Amino acid sequence: MIVDSLLARAAAADATSPLRHCRDRFDLPAGLVYLDGNSLGALPVAARDAMDDIVGRQWGHDLISSWNANGWWDAPLRVGDAIGRLVGAAEGQVVVTDSTSVNLFKAFVAAARMRPDRNVLVSDPASFPTDLYLLDAAARLVGAVVERVGPAELPDFLAERGDEVALVAVSSVDYRTGERWDLPAVTRAAHGRGALVLWDLCHGAGVLDVGLDEHEVDLAVGCTYKYLNGGPGAPAFMYVAERHQEHLDQPLSGWQGHAEPFAMAPSFEPIRGVGRVRVGTPPMVSLLVLEKALAAFDGVEPITARTVSLSLTGLFIDAVSELCPELEIATPLEPERRGSQVSMRHTEAFGVVQALIGRGVVGDFREPDIVRLGFAPLYTTHREVVVAASHLAEVLASGEHRLPVNQQRSTVT
Ligand SMILES: Cc1ncc(COP(=O)(O)O)c(C=O)c1O
Repeated sequence: MIVDSLLARAAAADATSPLRHCRDRFDLPAGLVYLDGNSLGALPVAARDAMDDIVGRQWGHDLISSWNANGWWDAPLRVGDAIGRLVGAAEGQVVVTDSTSVNLFKAFVAAARMRPDRNVLVSDPASFPTDLYLLDAAARLVGAVVERVGPAELPDFLAERGDEVALVAVSSVDYRTGERWDLPAVTRAAHGRGALVLWDLCHGAGVLDVGLDEHEVDLAVGCTYKYLNGGPGAPAFMYVAERHQEHLDQPLSGWQGHAEPFAMAPSFEPIRGVGRVRVGTPPMVSLLVLEKALAAFDGVEPITARTVSLSLTGLFIDAVSELCPELEIATPLEPERRGSQVSMRHTEAFGVVQALIGRGVVGDFREPDIVRLGFAPLYTTHREVVVAASHLAEVLASGEHRLPVNQQRSTVT
């Protein structure tokens, strides 16, 4: 039986996985195959166990003194440094603040202002919509022009118009197809024409070996509720390379980014360092929960997470190819070209995802025809990969995805 041999391969991979001890760091419902960590990461035990302390003691008992006594004021930078370790950034370059959307806007405007003699902002037309909307909004503010160019076409575009380009904005992983873009190569190409580069790491942080400092990235943003498991709506992060911090002129000059916030001065003077991208009071409970959640990465090097991620996605691709060869895999098959998800195209993708969820295999649907499954290297097992693929094959073979129960749409897909 094909499934038996896949399960045997999975058992061997799980037994020797360098992250096999990490599954116990998560509180997952028994029996559920959770392949949606690319939308909302699972609950780390350390985050769950910290709630009494964060809410009961810090908020309930220590009250306002917590800003000093429990390190609340410094938390955005402290937690930023913890995330920096996972994306290859030395200390003092990452801050946790706002949402990814807000950080994109700040970064886009700041980048355009760093290249006042250039008026083209470039982004991939396949970017997550908020990236596109906010680049347009930033361009309107600074009087720039947006050109939508995919990373594959970027070298030709840069060769022709590179000296007009202020910023190239790219996502480390295409949220639909799961294609991973070559961060070092894109960054080098943009820099070669004098442009700055911003990376959206929403689908990269925690699963890719990103290396922001090593590859001399200028700016990056990312959310913390996906593979970083920070919890629903956890605040996002923003990276500003040290060399740009002194001149960074971001548009949302809020009091928490002020050099002397408690001087209550009538005009804005930014603080030195990456803290100048802070705006207003952070969602402290969420930020502190995120800090505890990051303990799930203790002792985990980014390269190890990447290796295990590739092992999981590779096994899934092999399993799908054997069990349902008719299914079109949208994610690149070459390991170096894929992120930590596998996407498949199907004309009835919505029903397929619903049928899987009905069987306890949670993934998500993305318009127009994508079945998207995310593989979180810290808690997804190889065995679950095979279980998911065999459910998928059974759904397709039985036509379960066409049942009326699997057609009902809610707001969130
Ligand atoms: C690639 C990418 N960028 C940006 C966002 C938006 O993040 P937020 O809604 O937290 O601002 C998402 C959300 O899923 C995303 O996947």
